[in-house]
Amino acid sequence: VNDPAGAARCARWPDVPAVGALWQKLVEAHAELGSAFALRPGADAELPRLVAEMLDDPDAAVWVWEGPAGVSGFCTARRTRAPGSAEGQRVEITELMVSPPARRSGVGRALVETALAWASTGGARRVEVRVAAGNSTGQAFWRALGFGDLVDVLDRRL
Ligand SMILES: CC(C)(COP(=O)(O)OP(=O)(O)OC[C@H]1O[C@@H](n2cnc3c(N)ncnc32)[C@H](O)[C@@H]1OP(=O)(O)O)[C@@H](O)C(=O)NCCC(=O)NCCS
Repeated sequence: VNDPAGAARCARWPDVPAVGALWQKLVEAHAELGSAFALRPGADAELPRLVAEMLDDPDAAVWVWEGPAGVSGFCTARRTRAPGSAEGQRVEITELMVSPPARRSGVGRALVETALAWASTGGARRVEVRVAAGNSTGQAFWRALGFGDLVDVLDRRL
């Protein structure tokens, strides 16, 4: 990582506002990709509460990247177990956002590696992520980290 003063760590209660703000930026960026990603009016105010709930949830995890300028990235993940599935537990990385000035210096990679280590330590054999087809940066990022196609989610406007 180019930023020697920064590190990925587990989020704590005082990080909730910063993570909520980054999450809101993530949602705003996705709303530009399609209306399916837009939040209903006022829902952005609920994001900090959702972060706080994850901090209390043993099957969820939240990490932040803290550099000299404070928190500049976050990642969330959740353990799930598909009923009847032979593979047992798996982990989904549910959100990942690095603030624009901190991008392309390995922060996203460091956050995901932290999530992969958590998944592996917890016994998961596989980690999934959903990435919008139109998110070219996200597509390039996940593929650079070794993620590949599994399911195509198709939709049709009604
Ligand atoms: C996707 C995102 C998290 C990447 O974070 P980052 O800290 O910039 O990524 P890294 O510096 O760790 O990049 C790791 C590798 O991913 C690839 N990559 C990252 N950004 C890329 C881009 N814009 N174009 C092409 N490849 C890219 C590169 O291979 C990169 O390695 P390199 O810099 O040595 O070439 C960040 O761009 C972001 O927050 N985007 C908006 C939110 C988003 O799309 N989140 C993902 C939702 S699924």
